[in-house]
Amino acid sequence: MKLLAALLLAAATLGLATNAGAATPRENWDQHCAKCHGADGAGTTRLGTLLKVRDLTKAEVQAAFTDAAARTAIEDGVKDSTGRFTMNPYGAKLSPEERAALVAFVRALKK
Ligand code: HEC
Repeated sequence: MKLLAALLLAAATLGLATNAGAATPRENWDQHCAKCHGADGAGTTRLGTLLKVRDLTKAEVQAAFTDAAARTAIEDGVKDSTGRFTMNPYGAKLSPEERAALVAFVRALKK
């Protein structure tokens, strides 16, 4: 009986952990964002330097955009003055919940 309860609990926990196959914000950040913004958000990667990404660990950079602007950037991407994407849109790749979680994740990058 105890074993059955333990098995049921394990199954329930597993079910929660893999809920709808959504990745954690850290997994999404590492997979989709870190190549430009860096694992820590400082943006000192080769691509980040090339594209002149701002340092998301800095309070003044964080203060320069709203949560809504961050959501829009993640959903629709960012273009330079010639209309070329410098940051790809993730509206199709990530669910609304994943994008919202990434905004909170970005905020937490501030040192
Ligand atoms: C190909 C490089 C690249 C990738 C990949 C990338 N970004 Fe960006 N991101 C940029 C550039 C370039 C900007 C504009 C300059 C800046 O604000 O630093 C930017 C801007 C931002 C901003 C500021 C938006 C604003 O309104 O000022 C946020 C927030 C952001 N990115 C989050 C993310 C997240 C989250 C991901 C992953 C889902 C991601 N970025 C992936 C290049 C990238």
